[in-house]
Amino acid sequence: MSPHLQLLQISKSFARDGLPLPVLDKIDLEVQHGELVALIGPSGCGKTTLLHIIAGLICPDSGTIFLNSSPVSDCRRHVAYMQQKDLLLPWRTALKNALLGPEISQEEREQAEARAKQLFAEFGLSGFERVYPAQLSAGMRQRVALIRTLLSQREILLLDEPFGALDAITRSELHDWLLKAWEKSPQTTLFVTHDVEEALKLADRVYVLSERPARVKAVLTVSLQRPRNPTHSDFVALKAELLQQLGAA
Ligand SMILES: Nc1ncnc2c1ncn2[C@@H]1O[C@H](COP(=O)(O)OP(=O)(O)O)[C@@H](O)[C@H]1O
Ligand SMILES: [Mg+2]
Repeated sequence: MSPHLQLLQISKSFARDGLPLPVLDKIDLEVQHGELVALIGPSGCGKTTLLHIIAGLICPDSGTIFLNSSPVSDCRRHVAYMQQKDLLLPWRTALKNALLGPEISQEEREQAEARAKQLFAEFGLSGFERVYPAQLSAGMRQRVALIRTLLSQREILLLDEPFGALDAITRSELHDWLLKAWEKSPQTTLFVTHDVEEALKLADRVYVLSERPARVKAVLTVSLQRPRNPTHSDFVALKAELLQQLGAA
């Protein structure tokens, strides 16, 4: 079967002090239907830039994006993008922020609200539906942004460090919850993380990017059964391999 999302030779430079700053160098990447792919790489290497390009927020200098084998100039209508900054609207309550996607698509309001409330409960946010973003912790805001992304019902999810602001316990709970949700209905997902263990716990495959300008340094397949135990010897071995690829070991 052809990949759901495919990037071919995507390159991008920005201008800095009048000089080109190469950020992405001929990135090839594929995500199959229902596959969960992690993108990991050093800070500042170009991960967010790559997601911005897939989401159609910026244009690549060269290269092509394919959706189901057809070249597309812009995937905007096909992806739900959770940005690294939570981007909640300060004048809307948590629930109203989460419902932004469904509201825009004029989905049946009651149905969307019921699903949102269920997600609030599952994400440990019951009772915070009517609270404004300024009154929520960073981790809570991130969970609201994640709920909003899940509710938008696009065919591909792009998540930029979706668990970055969470403490270890909440993070691990959310991993478990998301894996359960993904097992029930697998959704094509590309997520950025800087956490090796998180990548190996969740992903089917892991793309390792180099320092800027980002190139694909390695692609690891994680064929361990879920739920994965980080203390299991196979997991530990993969982690060592991944750290080595990242140049951190
Ligand atoms: N709009 C922009 N203009 C100029 N430079 C940018 C812009 N966006 C990002 N950069 C630079 O591109 C590099 C990669 O940024 P980014 O994609 O955010 O990295 P990452 O998400 O991997 O930490 C950084 O050096 C950043 O300063
Ligand atoms: Mg980033």
